[in-house]
Amino acid sequence: MSDPAGFQPPPYPYDRLDDLRAVADRLPGGCVDLSIGTPCDPPPAAVVEALARSGAERGYPPSVGTPALREAAAGWLGRRFGAAVDPAHVAACIGTKELVAGVPQWLRLRSPGRDTVLYPRTSYPTYAMGATLAGCRAVPFGTLDEIDPADAARALCLWVNSPANPSGELDDLPAAAAWGRHHGVPVFSDECYIEFTWRGPGRTILSEGVDGVVALHSLSKRSNLAGARIGVYAGDPALVHYLSEVRKHAGFMVPGPVQAAAVVAFGDDQHVDEQRDRYVRRLDLMAAALGKLGVEAQRPPGTFYLWVAAPGGDAWALTRRLAEVGGVLVSPGEFYGEAGAGHVRIAVVQPDARLDLVAQRLGAAAGDAAGDVPHPSHPAG
Ligand SMILES: Cc1ncc(COP(=O)(O)O)c(C=O)c1O
Repeated sequence: MSDPAGFQPPPYPYDRLDDLRAVADRLPGGCVDLSIGTPCDPPPAAVVEALARSGAERGYPPSVGTPALREAAAGWLGRRFGAAVDPAHVAACIGTKELVAGVPQWLRLRSPGRDTVLYPRTSYPTYAMGATLAGCRAVPFGTLDEIDPADAARALCLWVNSPANPSGELDDLPAAAAWGRHHGVPVFSDECYIEFTWRGPGRTILSEGVDGVVALHSLSKRSNLAGARIGVYAGDPALVHYLSEVRKHAGFMVPGPVQAAAVVAFGDDQHVDEQRDRYVRRLDLMAAALGKLGVEAQRPPGTFYLWVAAPGGDAWALTRRLAEVGGVLVSPGEFYGEAGAGHVRIAVVQPDARLDLVAQRLGAAAGDAAGDVPHPSHPAG
């Protein structure tokens, strides 16, 4: 067979950390992995119970989501964020990553004259990858004003993400919705960190009305269910209907027991409030730990990530140093686009005791380093 000349998948970003994981693992107590944003805390017992005992495993589940799931998600959006959403305009996805990766190819089938995906310059890599997988142009933007009208005219969609991975920043969602309506471009608003908004209340683009917008929500982060794979998308009736019909034909289905568990998870806020407390504590703990190395970090406006400027702008050097002296694995910012190359992202997704261990290691390293510095009144040698 001849060598394929087309698309070759690039190395998966986090696989590029394998060497440093081994470095971090050499410290007593092993590697503390703060690279991938994968939750470590347990979901509520009632959710796990529903997963085990729903009886929903026998037949095929509805691709669009059960009525109970769609109602529970709409109820949560109204209760928690004041957004009026009709359950008929809510649909299920198998975690939001697959939807993010798939939207460009389905939109392109619908609008074959368009070929461009607009996405934030420093962001979750799957926005650009979804465009690539669809054979589309992935065009990053800084601010909405900077978007070239020629790109807007070719755009299948514009992605926004608030609170944002990796920076934790909050977007102006009303401005994004207005931009999309003005240019006739659907706006997809990835709101998977909405519950972990620290500056003001959580905000959804659905508060601007559903015309031309689709919000994505995930139970991976909200309810520590990343392993169960479930999210929902909601908004513009025509877009949600189109996407859910295409996905039905393609056989995308969230397993029945997972849909049943999600109904319980969407119905409960107490576990989310507890999780919020955990992340705030851990963000502050890690920020203080980094301070011991002289690296400045602050609690972000949202998310469970610290987005830290690397000394001298060398993110790989900081990543290596943190692995060597802190036994901690973090993500160099280039994983989220070239503009992020001077930062590292630190996900506080390990139990407090593990973060305390990192703080101790960094404190000890800082002490050693201070000991290494020759005292001015006693010059070495
Ligand atoms: C911005 C963003 N969107 C989507 C996802 C995907 O989450 P899931 O597929 O678990 O819903 C992630 C996961 O880290 C993310 O950071």
